[in-house]
Amino acid sequence: MSMLPFDEKAARHFQRVYSTPDVVQQRAEVLALLAPQPGERVLDVGSGPGFLVASLADAVGAAGAVHGLDPSGPMNAVARDLIGTRPWARIDDGDAEELPYPDGAFDAAVSTQVYEYVADIPRALSELRRVLRLGGRALVLDTDWDSVVWHAADRQRHRRIMAAWEEHLVHPHLPCTLPGHLRRAGFRVTGRHLIPLFNPRYEQNTLSAMNMELIARFVAGRQGLTEADADAWMADLRERGAEDDYLFSLNRYCFLAVAE
Ligand SMILES: C[S@@+](CC[C@H](N)C(=O)[O-])C[C@H]1O[C@@H](n2cnc3c(N)ncnc32)[C@H](O)[C@@H]1O
Repeated sequence: MSMLPFDEKAARHFQRVYSTPDVVQQRAEVLALLAPQPGERVLDVGSGPGFLVASLADAVGAAGAVHGLDPSGPMNAVARDLIGTRPWARIDDGDAEELPYPDGAFDAAVSTQVYEYVADIPRALSELRRVLRLGGRALVLDTDWDSVVWHAADRQRHRRIMAAWEEHLVHPHLPCTLPGHLRRAGFRVTGRHLIPLFNPRYEQNTLSAMNMELIARFVAGRQGLTEADADAWMADLRERGAEDDYLFSLNRYCFLAVAE
């Protein structure tokens, strides 16, 4: 079954979701861990709406260079708009499995919430290693969908919805295997970090409230679920919210590595 399409609707969705305090905080933690320095050349693989490219560009300054790369035209259009006034940052069309850069082109590379959508992980990570200089740093962050905790009254329906949602990407449980993949691609893993996302209340400007709608649209018609099932699931979660009985959490797993 087809995964989530990164079309114009998705680009607008991710632009809003990645502006929530949940994801702003995640980005701040990623930046602190990668610690980009003035003058560095940095790559963001799967740059999406471009928020991280903009922050990286501000960190490396005009003496540095930042490339965002993404295969999605609509995502790249949003990202180019966002980084507009920083000529040392650019967004390239391309795929993680075949990076359009020479060997050793970057001092550091980052990829958040991307490899889980990429079919050939060994190939993509060996590409990542190739474009980094010896001693260059990589930061890779992905979600394990086994880590989701979401309070629904109808647990059975909730489990069916979550199972169908796993079809939205290629690797719903990538993080456990990432350290091994990184080592085999020629990296030394130097850091492992957990970034939890926690919504203890139902509020509109949160990751879970916004993604609930994306999930409902995606799962309807999959694994025997109907639109009515998806609507009833959302109504269930919102009712938990109305009763101040809401709880959502999800873990991001973040790995730092050095190119050997
Ligand atoms: C969930 S979004 C994350 C965007 C961005 N990294 C962020 O955290 O703000 C996933 C992104 O991965 C991109 N993507 C999917 N498959 C890809 C591939 N094979 N190579 C590079 N990027 C890919 C999508 O187009 C989308 O922009």
